[in-house]
Amino acid sequence: MKTYEELIELALEARQMAYTPYSHFKVGAALMTKEGKVYKGCNIENASYTPTNCAERTAFFKAISEGEREFEALAIVGGFEDQEKLELCSPCGVCRQVIREFCDDDFKIILLTGQEDGKNQYEVYDLTEILPLSFGPTDMHIKPKSR
Ligand code: THU
Repeated sequence: MKTYEELIELALEARQMAYTPYSHFKVGAALMTKEGKVYKGCNIENASYTPTNCAERTAFFKAISEGEREFEALAIVGGFEDQEKLELCSPCGVCRQVIREFCDDDFKIILLTGQEDGKNQYEVYDLTEILPLSFGPTDMHIKPKSR
């Protein structure tokens, strides 16, 4: 198992791979499974704009496509490429819904909130806090264990 600090570091690593010639806004994510394995993701933009994939979804789709189904936590970091210190980058609505598909209410979302004196500050949220009153698999009569 990684600590939340370590997950943030891995998200910062992932951010370096972001492909962002249009927005120049680089995001990194690190998704930890319940067994402690980590999948990294970055945002990948497109000349046609709408095919752009967020860092969070890249991490999830990598993990899901490798057979993972049980997740513990996701760290997210982001900011413009020329930004000296990163601030809060909160996941978009589409990513929240993708997280909801595979994660329980108590899944942890770790958001980098600042960087002072070489230290990363962060906040930890439960999925239900950032996506209240959600619509998910159970509403479609899909049992969590059959994901
Ligand atoms: N983006 C992410 O990758 N994750 C977020 O949580 C917010 C936005 C990306 C999409 C796009 O490439 C760029 O940031 C600007 O919206």
